[in-house]
Amino acid sequence: MERFYITTPIYYVNDVPHLGHAYTTVAVDVLARYQRARLGPENVRMLTGTDEHGLKIQEAAHKRGETPIELADRVVERFRAAWRALDISNDDFIRTTEPRHKAVVLDLWRRLEQQGDIYLGDYEGWYCISCEEFYPESQLAGGKLCPVHEREVTRVKEQSYFFRLSKYQDALISYIEQHPGFVQPTIRKNEVLGFLRSEPLRDLSISRTTFGWGIQAPEHPEHVIYVWIDALTNYISALGGPGADGYQRFWEAARTIHVIGKDILRFHCVYWPAMLLSAGLPLPRTVFAHGWWKVSGKKISKGLPATRIDPVQLSEDVGADAVRYFLMREVPLGADGDFSYEGLIGRINSELANDLGNLLNRSAAMLRKYVGGKIPALAGGDDPLDVELRTTAERARDDAGKALDELAPSRALDAIWELVRLANRYVDQTQPWVLARNPEGKARLDVVLASFAESLRWIALLVAPFLPRSATEIQRQLGLSSGERWPSAWRYPGSQVAETGAVLFQRLDEPAAATLIDKWLAKAGAPKAEAPEAPTEPAPPTKPDVAKITYEDFGRLDLRVGRIVKADRIPKADKLLHLHVEIGEPAPREVVAGIATAYAPDGLVGKQVVFLANLEPKKIRGILSHGMVLAAGDAEVLALSGLDREVVPGTKVK
Ligand code: MSP
Repeated sequence: MERFYITTPIYYVNDVPHLGHAYTTVAVDVLARYQRARLGPENVRMLTGTDEHGLKIQEAAHKRGETPIELADRVVERFRAAWRALDISNDDFIRTTEPRHKAVVLDLWRRLEQQGDIYLGDYEGWYCISCEEFYPESQLAGGKLCPVHEREVTRVKEQSYFFRLSKYQDALISYIEQHPGFVQPTIRKNEVLGFLRSEPLRDLSISRTTFGWGIQAPEHPEHVIYVWIDALTNYISALGGPGADGYQRFWEAARTIHVIGKDILRFHCVYWPAMLLSAGLPLPRTVFAHGWWKVSGKKISKGLPATRIDPVQLSEDVGADAVRYFLMREVPLGADGDFSYEGLIGRINSELANDLGNLLNRSAAMLRKYVGGKIPALAGGDDPLDVELRTTAERARDDAGKALDELAPSRALDAIWELVRLANRYVDQTQPWVLARNPEGKARLDVVLASFAESLRWIALLVAPFLPRSATEIQRQLGLSSGERWPSAWRYPGSQVAETGAVLFQRLDEPAAATLIDKWLAKAGAPKAEAPEAPTEPAPPTKPDVAKITYEDFGRLDLRVGRIVKADRIPKADKLLHLHVEIGEPAPREVVAGIATAYAPDGLVGKQVVFLANLEPKKIRGILSHGMVLAAGDAEVLALSGLDREVVPGTKVK
């Protein structure tokens, strides 16, 4: 029995939900919905919740003249409302102030204690309240600022319980080495390993005595348990903790995945597994750290209202599906992203309104006109165009399924949109309007309409994890019951088209888009789009000036489509791969590419890339590298260049 358990981080209640929180939660929701379609809802669990203890929350409440629980009770409703607005399908919502959570935190503490892994000591160090973490002096910026938040740290000197983290250093290293899928993507795995190998781990201070907002340590009520120990436990407390039925089904006997932002990697890949190792409990199968969103190039921060994108407002104005789609489509999970309203509107217009919305409009209109809304069952369909439609659908299903299994939602959308575009082309090529004109065309018309309806039925099922509302609307318009299973058989059952049909996505022309953007900016308390924003924080470092080049200069670049036919690691070079790339010449080109931290060699063979063919050859690690594979990213490679459809290798790129 295959089971799947997936979690978001639990969000601090000193902030209201913004785009960053929405991103993780939508990604997890998409992956959970897909697994429900594959495994059945009873075999999948998705968890989210709120992190409500700790000094940070206590201080935030104090500033507002509230008690911490009043603050938590108020803000938790904002999170619940945001997830409702975004159609998040979490099976449970955990709050760390709930008794069911507290019981498991205490149980875990006792387990660590029984192992002899908790001891009392004195702690003196620098603490950042925003991170809720101690920093060694060497890591402080300017000797006194937290390296993450750049806010002043406070000196803490108190008695504290410690967890013997140091004892697990070697075990963690070998666990991560032996379980390549544990920390993903590879770049984050290397980051964790780098940290673990760099210096001896220090034991972790896991209790505090100078404030009271938290769970009291067993037998030591003057100690409050460190908020991260408390928070990480949510992943199992929501299942009832060790021994509970839910825990057995979804922690011990499931594929367990924590999706987090890259900011909280160390807590999840060092502290949490060390605690579980100590307690003798199974580790999660995967911790996947995604990238960080900025807004128009700026870090999301309370001091910059324009960066505080409100996902609820966006969903009200353009629909939850559009927001979900944009977040999943814009950047691969793992890479950093930059949000702009213009980018959101661009994707709504081209991919949602044009590609998908049009497809449904056309189909409903055509089906009414040619067969009075009665879609025939699919019989036959052996014409090459029908076969192409079916095989493309099968490929989209297989590729999208594989991508979602591998936690790559943007890749899944690539595959699905191949089918969306082909379905549009299928109508153009089969020309139902011509077939409808003469009676001999009737049999063929039935096959065409049924094939086309079948492709739409599949598309609804494939987009459902991303666009649940659109999927239901497509099914409703086709007169089908809203199925949720991943598609299997290519067999249109026949149906009666619904009488009404809503437009899936409204195209936003320029004036409409400008009005919306102004409204969003005004709501955030930011100046209008045209007005230059007052610099409220130091400008981000600007890129070095790139000299302009002429068309002739550009024409000198021999850019071509290449297909990777062989990829190997290079001994003792962590970052480099040795690639053979077919570019329309008798023999493939050999190049050395610095992409090993982002790509494993196995997954590369067959990929199409943009290739610079007339770059001066250069010897790298003893290999004559003859050209260059183009990729996105600056210091670190984030994604290889690719083409959105197959093209013969060697074709010029301009
Ligand atoms: N409470 C801790 C997590 C405990 S998990 C056991 C916490 N909470 S948080 O409210 O600060 O949320 C952090 C998470 O929000 C990040 O890990 C990420 O998932 C999401 N994001 C917050 N800002 C983000 C961006 N700007 N971009 C992408 N995701 C971001 O840390």
